[in-house]
Order: sequence, then structure tokens, then C-alpha cells
Amino acid sequence: MSKNDRKAYLTFSALVLALCLGATLAQAHDDDDEDERHERHEQHEHSKLENQRHASNIQNKQLKEECGSCHIVYPPNMLPAESWRALMDNLNKHFGSDASLDKATQRELSNLLQNQGKGRAETANNGQPIIRISQTSWFLDEHEDEVSPRTWRNPKIKSASNCGTCHTKADQGRFGEHEIRIPR
Ligand code: HEC
Ligand code: HEC
Repeated sequence: MSKNDRKAYLTFSALVLALCLGATLAQAHDDDDEDERHERHEQHEHSKLENQRHASNIQNKQLKEECGSCHIVYPPNMLPAESWRALMDNLNKHFGSDASLDKATQRELSNLLQNQGKGRAETANNGQPIIRISQTSWFLDEHEDEVSPRTWRNPKIKSASNCGTCHTKADQGRFGEHEIRIPR
């Protein structure tokens, strides 16, 4: 090889090497993108499933009729089975209201709610299971940083039980963060 040839050869080799390296990096980057997309997709699928679950839970006609007249139908998977049982066994003293049902309906709805209940019951000060979603620790965690004490006191909200004042699709069992409007 002449000196010039050698120079051309070296330049060529360097070029090929650079191209290979570039391609490898690009590939790695693509893989990352792919992973990220996949993860996002899974999260999306997950929340879609969650939403569907909420939605199908509250579609039960009897549940709607009996438990959706005074407030929204609270999604059954937002309380543990034990809590639902405690709540359903005391419908005559239901947060200051009488929500009594005939025995058969009470039993049927109690079973439905318990079957779809999720998690382990937390205990209130009186030693009984907590029967308010709005007093469970996951609820308090979810809302602690997002809703200020001043907002909770807003007369337009009145009570944390009024999910629908902020969660605009609560009556459809949807609580996603894109469907929230906090009254001012
Ligand atoms: C006669 C009206 C009435 C009926 C019918 C009724 N409820 Fe309620 N419910 C209330 C009131 C009032 C509250 C308390 C709301 C508040 O504190 O702002 C409440 C609260 C609740 C809460 C607690 C919400 C929270 O703060 O997390 C749950 C859970 C609940 N009801 C479930 C049911 C179920 C299940 C049924 C059907 C078996 C039912 N309710 C039927 C009046 C009713
Ligand atoms: C004062 C307004 C307000 C009320 C009332 C309220 N929430 Fe929320 N909720 C929020 C805000 C704000 C968030 C936080 C959303 C975020 O993470 O960006 C939230 C988050 C949630 C989440 C988690 C959503 C997610 O995808 O991360 C659930 C589930 C939820 N709320 C259920 C309820 C239920 C059930 C009730 C009624 C018992 C209720 N909320 C009452 C404002 C409210």
C-alpha cells in the first residue's frame, strides 16, 4: 500500500466503525423506546381494566336501585369484604339514615359486594371494620397531597363521600385523574 492508500484505508475503517457504533446505539435507543412504550401500554391497559371493573361493578340493576338513590353506587372493590358485611348488617343505622332492605335483597347485595370486595379491612376506633371508603388509608393517601384541608371544608363539597363533586364520572364508576374538577 502506498502512503496515500493506507491513509484512505484508515479513513474508511474509521468511517465503518463509526457507522457500526451509531447503528448499535440507535438500536439500543429503540429498545428503550420499545420498553417504555410497552410499559405505558401496560399501564394504560391496566387502568382501562380497572375502570372497566369499576364500571361493570356498578352496573348491577339491583345495586343501582337500592344503593344508588341517595348517593352514587360506590364501586364494590373500594372496600374489603369484611367492611361490606359490617355495613350491610347495619343498614337500619346507615350514617344517620335508614337504608333497610328486605332480607332476601339484603343478603343478595351483601354477597355481591363481599365477592367483589378488595383488601383487608382496617379497624376503626370502636374495634369495628371501617365502613367508609373515605376513611380507608388508601383513600387518605390518594387525597392527602391533592386536596387541601381548605378544599375539604368548601361548602360545595360538604363531605368527602360526595365523590361526584370532584370526580365528574364517579356515577359511572370512573375515578381517573383526567376526570377530576375540584370546585373553587
Ligand atoms: C336512604 C339513603 C341511603 C341509601 C338508600 C343508601 N345510603 Fe349509603 N349513605 C347514605 C348517607 C346519608 C351516607 C353518609 C354520607 C356523608 O357522610 O356525606 C352514606 C354513606 C355510604 C358509604 C360511605 C361513603 C364514604 O364516605 O366513603 C357507603 C360505602 C355507603 N353509603 C354504601 C351504601 C350501600 C352499599 C347502600 C345500599 C345497600 C347504600 N349505601 C344505600 C345514605 C344512603
Ligand atoms: C375534593 C375533591 C374530591 C373528592 C370529594 C373525592 N376525590 Fe378522589 N381524588 C381527588 C383528587 C384531586 C385526586 C388525585 C388525582 C391525582 O392523583 O392527580 C383523587 C384521586 C382519587 C383516586 C385515585 C385515582 C387515580 O387514578 O390515581 C381514587 C380511586 C379516588 N380519588 C376515589 C374517590 C372516591 C371513591 C371518592 C368518594 C368517596 C373521592 N375520590 C372523593 C379529588 C376528590
